[in-house]
Amino acid sequence: MDRIAITGGARLEGEIPISGAKNSAIKLMAASLLTEEPLRLTNMPRLADTRFLGRLLQRLGTEVVESDGPDGPETLLTTREIVSGFAPYDLVRQMRASFNVLGPLLARSGQAKVSLPGGCTIGARPVDLHLKALEALGAKIDLHEGYVYAQAPRGLRGAAIDFPMVSVGATEHAMLAAVLAEGETVITQAACEPEMNDLADCLNKMGAKVSGAGTSTITIQGVSRLHGAKHAVMPDRIETGTYALAVAMAGGEVRLTKTRSDFIQAMLDKMVEAGVEVTPNNDGLTVRRNGTLLKAVEFETSAYPGFPTDLQAPFMALMTLAEGESVIRETIFENRLMHAPELRRMGADITVHGTEARVRGVDSLEGAQVMATDLRASVSLVIAGLAAKGETIVNRVYHLDRGFERLEEKLGACGAKVRRLKGDGGEEVE
Ligand code: UD1
Repeated sequence: MDRIAITGGARLEGEIPISGAKNSAIKLMAASLLTEEPLRLTNMPRLADTRFLGRLLQRLGTEVVESDGPDGPETLLTTREIVSGFAPYDLVRQMRASFNVLGPLLARSGQAKVSLPGGCTIGARPVDLHLKALEALGAKIDLHEGYVYAQAPRGLRGAAIDFPMVSVGATEHAMLAAVLAEGETVITQAACEPEMNDLADCLNKMGAKVSGAGTSTITIQGVSRLHGAKHAVMPDRIETGTYALAVAMAGGEVRLTKTRSDFIQAMLDKMVEAGVEVTPNNDGLTVRRNGTLLKAVEFETSAYPGFPTDLQAPFMALMTLAEGESVIRETIFENRLMHAPELRRMGADITVHGTEARVRGVDSLEGAQVMATDLRASVSLVIAGLAAKGETIVNRVYHLDRGFERLEEKLGACGAKVRRLKGDGGEEVE
């Protein structure tokens, strides 16, 4: 299994272009199941997660063609017909969001058998809200042996879907199913993340009638069919925030381009409070830290527009070197502080009680062998490695490959000493 080696101490200078958003791209790809016409997605990130989903979609009947178009990497998805409504455990297990094919399959062909995703390292992550939304739309759902058997032989019907809590995935799933339902659907307590707007925009280009995305009430007038469209995937706000934190950690000045700063305003406000200079511009933002001491800050994660849970781990890495004690509360996932013990291996002073971490800044971190159990935790270790003395080896790089496109190349172009070691033997591939 590949590893990433980081030699700490290099300042970062230059520019990092931000890729299309992983979390949006995979839902947009699932939307291609809703029409027999081609869906052309531009600004596509090339990641393990998009590859997993591409493989699953091919099994279901989608033709997936990747190319480099005038606007960068693109994927053309065409589902002339659904040849199978079966999403097996092996493919759903590899990437949880594959579960979101269930709604489009039901909406287009009236039936589906999709594996339950199972638990995952950051918490139980159930799918009860997804299933309740589909049931509200008239689907008959049965669970047997780890599979969801869903049927809607006479099609889905518009309904009121009142979520008891905010769920990004369930809101997207409800939208993906309701666009082809007969009549009106009103989703209340919907997630407001910018990815909702991206999905709604794409669906509307395909002929859907979705309004209110980005607010807590989304209204959908069902249509009988959707058509092909071309849509540019929104910039990855989590990649943006992660590289902003990398610059803050290592020091230096980097322009993050092809992105938007307003998508991560809550996190940037905390960076500024910690003493980092952040200057937004039309094409993204510039992040600068030249010798200033970092100050500890307190925050808790929450749904958009709050502090994103996906940036909690990399922000904790930054706080390991801040002056004072920072208090970090994770409110979205119950088991998402697994990076704390790994950061401690690098010399960080962190105590965890339940879902709260207290980080007392230290003068320096030391490189170590570390490993993480999820994507965002892994990248927090890379960030810590950028400022640590000596070499940090991050094991289980496949987590990073799920969500970061050309991480070592992007950081390397700004002067970071990051390289990929192939396999356990340490042979370098770049
Ligand atoms: C998405 C993002 C993930 C991000 C998260 C929160 C993707 C592929 N992933 O995950 O990066 O960290 O949003 O911003 O887009 N829940 C239930 N029942 C359900 C669904 C969710 O109880 O049916 C709970 C979850 O366990 C969690 C909370 O709701 O505690 C929020 O999860 P949710 O917003 O659904 O996250 P995901 O869509 O899985």
